[in-house]
Amino acid sequence: MIFKKESLDLIKIFYIMQKLLTTVFSNNNSEYINWDKEYQNGQWDYLKNLDELAHYSIIIGYYNYLKPRGSILDVGSGEGLLQKRILAYSYSKYVGIDGSLEAINRASPKTDNKTFFLKEDMHNYSTKKAFDVIVFNESLYYSDNPLKVIRKFENYLDKKGIFIVSMYKPNFPISIFVYLIWKKISKEYKLIDETIIKNKLGQKWICRVYTKF
Ligand SMILES: C[S@@+](CC[C@H](N)C(=O)[O-])C[C@H]1O[C@@H](n2cnc3c(N)ncnc32)[C@H](O)[C@@H]1O
Repeated sequence: MIFKKESLDLIKIFYIMQKLLTTVFSNNNSEYINWDKEYQNGQWDYLKNLDELAHYSIIIGYYNYLKPRGSILDVGSGEGLLQKRILAYSYSKYVGIDGSLEAINRASPKTDNKTFFLKEDMHNYSTKKAFDVIVFNESLYYSDNPLKVIRKFENYLDKKGIFIVSMYKPNFPISIFVYLIWKKISKEYKLIDETIIKNKLGQKWICRVYTKF
């Protein structure tokens, strides 16, 4: 299906808005989102489109430049699109966690001795492992407390590890929510680099690399 830029933007903004609102008005992080149905309906299939390639590629570029062949924890991994694209660059270990069983079921066939997909809510997940890279690719803004989530995941980051955070840049007024998340993160973590991605449809993403101070 071919969408015009305006309708694609509206779809994306609608999803983010919907999730942000349900997040704000919900008490239970694991129950409010009907991700499974959305994956089944194909609502997230557009993430495989060429229009989305650039922001995945920036994440992969940062990974490959800063932590080549390192270990990766992909938070809100969905059906493993990042893993599929990062595979060519190789990794020592990849763990993708996602709250949607449907997404994890779709990703699971790619499991091997260094690739794991787990159905886990980012708010409840814990591990004893320390990763070289922790990625939040269009997933952090679905938490009602993104900073708390990052702080928790800091415990699972190697001393010299990096966070790679990518978020869609919606238009005003939703952009304020996203701006506030960036502001909070930048206060507590050291910004190493930033790339602003714009595709031919005019859709924008911000991708940043952070370390602990
Ligand atoms: C926009 S999709 C991005 C998926 C993936 N990062 C990608 O780019 O292909 C957001 C993902 O975050 C997941 N998600 C949302 N809230 C979550 C939570 N509390 N814990 C774990 N995953 C969550 C959803 O199930 C969904 O797969």
